[in-house]
Amino acid sequence: MLAGLSACVVSPSHREHAPLDQQRVSAFADTVNGKTVKLFTLRNKSGMAVEISNYGATLVSIHVPDQKGQDGNVLLGYDDIKGYYNGKSYFGCVVGRYANRIAKGAFELEGKQYQLPQNDGLNSLHGGVNSIDKQVWDARIMNDAIRLTTVMKDGDNGYPGNVKLTVVYSLRADNRLVIDYSATTDKTTVLNISNHAYFNLTGDPSNTILNHEININADAFTPVDSTLIPTGELKKVAGSAFDFLSFKKIGKDIDQEEQQLVFGKGYDHNFVLNANDGMSPVVEVVEKNSGRKMEVYTTQPGIQFYTGNFLNGSEKGRGVAYQYRSGFCLETQQFPDAPNQSNFPSAVLKPGEAWKSQTAYKFSVLK
Ligand code: BGC
Repeated sequence: MLAGLSACVVSPSHREHAPLDQQRVSAFADTVNGKTVKLFTLRNKSGMAVEISNYGATLVSIHVPDQKGQDGNVLLGYDDIKGYYNGKSYFGCVVGRYANRIAKGAFELEGKQYQLPQNDGLNSLHGGVNSIDKQVWDARIMNDAIRLTTVMKDGDNGYPGNVKLTVVYSLRADNRLVIDYSATTDKTTVLNISNHAYFNLTGDPSNTILNHEININADAFTPVDSTLIPTGELKKVAGSAFDFLSFKKIGKDIDQEEQQLVFGKGYDHNFVLNANDGMSPVVEVVEKNSGRKMEVYTTQPGIQFYTGNFLNGSEKGRGVAYQYRSGFCLETQQFPDAPNQSNFPSAVLKPGEAWKSQTAYKFSVLK
């Protein structure tokens, strides 16, 4: 009798981590190079649930109610773990050792030349080949959080230093998904760590994201050349297609015959944030049909606003082939190519330093 009763009692920590669906847990379970790949779930009492895989420290889904209280998943993703092994678009994963691009995959640090894999034309993108987005991370379940750790080895993808990296995803009662990043190195290196989640606040990824309205607190952005490497200029956004200083539909100016938009096939640019104290939102996005709103907070100096311009229907999940501009990313970051651009904030990490950054995505509904 007692045993029966106690079996029915679900402890708070259980509820916080109860899976959404047992079949999904199986579809995301595997062993890679002797390491267990698992799907973890964070839930809160306000109706939010987040699925996370320790493969790539990946956000697999974010379930959040709409204005009518209907649950919906606002993330693009694949239906099983194999999708993530084969995925080319960096859905939901953590990217590094240098998120975004380094020109010609080359940089100099403390008088030494480094050459990285050139996996994006002549440039290096998101840390190179089989980087942390394709590794199994160690995972620990905490109360309202999952803590993931990995080591990027000295020489991995051409970068110097053994870097220990920790990412903690916490889901707060006020529908904030907080991501705490921290890292240390044993040799001077360059570091830029971000999350590559693609959002579609309609909850239905067969819609494009063009009707979402976005407000970015950035007076300037970093224009790029035709290979999407910053030219070094910080260009004022006021009055241009890049002006999101007040709410504007993503689709309003995206197809302007403007060289920057042609290079990016849309928005694929780093915005220079006006504030990065982590206390006030740097970006707000609203989608009026669902009534969902998302705010982004960060301690990073920049944010890559990428409108899914390279999605072309070749990646599938959630019953759809993800089409051009069906998701947008807001990748908080150091500036792209900072290791080659002395006027950009430094992305160098030295032994003895403890690098930390925090980004939060907060969800609510319009009143
Ligand atoms: C980049 C895009 C790139 C995409 C890869 C983004 O961070 O800015 O240019 O195509 O990642 O999925």
